[in-house]
Amino acid sequence: MNKKSLFLVLSLLGIAILFISAGIYAGTTAPDVIKMENKIYDKHTKGIVEFSHKKHVVDYKGTCGECHHDATGKPLDLKEGDAVQSCAECHSKAGLAPKGKDAPKLTPKEKLEYHAEAIHKNCIDCHKASNTKTGTKNAPTSCAKCHPQKK
Ligand code: HEC
Ligand code: HEC
Ligand code: HEC
Ligand code: HEC
Repeated sequence: MNKKSLFLVLSLLGIAILFISAGIYAGTTAPDVIKMENKIYDKHTKGIVEFSHKKHVVDYKGTCGECHHDATGKPLDLKEGDAVQSCAECHSKAGLAPKGKDAPKLTPKEKLEYHAEAIHKNCIDCHKASNTKTGTKNAPTSCAKCHPQKK
């Protein structure tokens, strides 16, 4: 192999490594549609929600800080490419808070430790406000409108 083609091969290899490592730094790019299937669940009791991340930012004009915040709950002013933590890293108990007669009384803060409670509050509070504003029911607030029939 002459010097010139060796250089070419090494450059291509370099570019390939850049692409591969970009893929490894997960958490810096959001897919257009996120399958909400968090790993903290051994098994989901409800159908998996498909969350249109891109539409929420572009069409519905959601700001990053309306959904993403820091370890004190303060809204984050993110740029494209910033690393973003998964909700479950902080709201780390799987599922909904226990309900019923024998369930412990939880403070609002303790309730938010449950992943599904935090997610529901974030999604549904905004959807209710949006529907009030538009006078429609376009933003889903009922179980079956978000969770598809389980297969
Ligand atoms: C309407 C709510 C909402 C808005 C607005 C929003 N996001 Fe997200 N974003 C989410 C949710 C929910 C997830 C999935 C998090 C999870 O699975 O724990 C997510 C995931 C991500 C991820 C992937 C994280 C990972 O673990 O792979 C990135 C990066 C991200 N968002 C960046 C942004 C940026 C930048 C903005 C503003 C331009 C933004 N988001 C606006 C709700 C939102
Ligand atoms: C705005 C959409 C939305 C609505 C409305 C909604 N959910 Fe969810 N729910 C979600 C998302 C998103 C998750 C997070 C799943 C994940 O990330 O793994 C979730 C998680 C859950 C979980 C824990 C995961 C599982 O499958 O066991 C339960 C249980 C649940 N929801 C029940 C309900 C019930 C019951 C209702 C109606 C009273 C409801 N949800 C309404 C979006 C919604
Ligand atoms: C770095 C840790 C961390 C991450 C990541 C995180 N949260 Fe939180 N979240 C908090 C803290 C801390 C609070 C404040 C709790 C309190 O005020 O008692 C909070 C509060 C909330 C609240 C209540 C806000 C209110 O108005 O009362 C909701 C809803 C919520 N988070 C949803 C989410 C969602 C959805 C995600 C992912 C897109 C997420 N959180 C990611 C730490 C986190
Ligand atoms: C900051 C406000 C806001 C938050 C937070 C939010 N949404 Fe929405 N969502 C909207 C708006 C606005 C619409 C469109 C309503 C309309 O068409 O009038 C919408 C529509 C939807 C729709 C129906 C259309 C579509 O794009 O698929 C789904 C499903 C949905 N949201 C799921 C979610 C889930 C799941 C979450 C939480 C992870 C969430 N949303 C959080 C504002 C929000």
